[in-house]
Amino acid sequence: MTARSGAVLGIETSCDETAAAVVVEGREIRSNVVAGQAERHAPYGGVVPEIAGRAHVELVGPVVAEALVEGGVPLEGLEAVAVCRGPGLAGSLLVGVAAAKALALAAGLPYVAVNHLDAHCEAVWLEEPELAPPFVVLVASGGHTLLARVDGPGRAVLLGQTYDDAAGEAFDKVARLLGLGYPGGPAIDRVATRGDPTAVRFPRPVADDRLDFSFSGLKTAVALHRRDHPEVPVADVAAAFQEAVVDTLVAKLVAAARAAGVRAVALGGGVAANSRLRLRALEAGDAAGLRVVLPDRVLCTDNAAMIAATGFRRLRARGPDPLDGGIDPSAPLGG
Ligand code: KG4
Ligand code: ZN
Repeated sequence: MTARSGAVLGIETSCDETAAAVVVEGREIRSNVVAGQAERHAPYGGVVPEIAGRAHVELVGPVVAEALVEGGVPLEGLEAVAVCRGPGLAGSLLVGVAAAKALALAAGLPYVAVNHLDAHCEAVWLEEPELAPPFVVLVASGGHTLLARVDGPGRAVLLGQTYDDAAGEAFDKVARLLGLGYPGGPAIDRVATRGDPTAVRFPRPVADDRLDFSFSGLKTAVALHRRDHPEVPVADVAAAFQEAVVDTLVAKLVAAARAAGVRAVALGGGVAANSRLRLRALEAGDAAGLRVVLPDRVLCTDNAAMIAATGFRRLRARGPDPLDGGIDPSAPLGG
């Protein structure tokens, strides 16, 4: 029964979330457990790799146990164990990969190594299992900002990416600058609802016809504005900054859909939780005749359900990976 049960345990430890999930046939989520570490990193205003690695060591066992119990699938009922092999923090990836290999070896299960960016792109199928490729996905998180055309499982093609900071990183850095704490994205999202997005006109870097991003200049523009105009309310600055990021992300998402000739787009990554981005993406999609898929927030931020689902499709397409394969902290999309 185990051989083709379709139940895959996914493990994700690439950054600061320790996550495990059981997903059946790549679409039915039985459990999706995420243990965040935000409060451990908050005093430093960003993720501290050594703290993240140690926290994963502490949390991975209990989180996997919880995912199996909640999923109602014992270890021997699984078809495979899938894990994120990169990109991400080396010390964090090693913990998940070691745990996944140990479980696979002990239970005699196939082991599947999954690319984190591919998994973000394919998370859309957990929300909309019938969404037909090709479609374009914007993955915007604390570590990545990229546009990809998804032609099928394991077939994501990079269309553009950031030259410098990721969008989430810009949110975190600007939140810190404005004294809003960490993680910055949710804080700015909240405060911006009370602000006027037209109070300040921040730059929209990189022309709309290019599918790449740059956010470091925007962060500097906010810092300079703060220095020169300390009297402007924080809520206005937050709203204006958020508007600049959202304008850029939405314009390029639509441009990418046009360039790729697709009829559907989707969001992924932690920044996809941003309420203004979700609204503006829907409006722009409407205007451009595009279907816009907004996966549930838990499927956008780092999670193990996307690893399990992507791992299931990889297993069926090309079989398991060898247990002596390593991590790849800088794996590109599709790599
Ligand atoms: O995908 P994720 O959970 O982790 C990785 O970075 O891989 O994304 C976290 C990022 C952080 O930078 C956080 O500030 C941002 O996503 N974020 C948001 C929101 N919620 C999380 N950014 C803007 N608005 C939000 N509501
Ligand atoms: Zn991520």
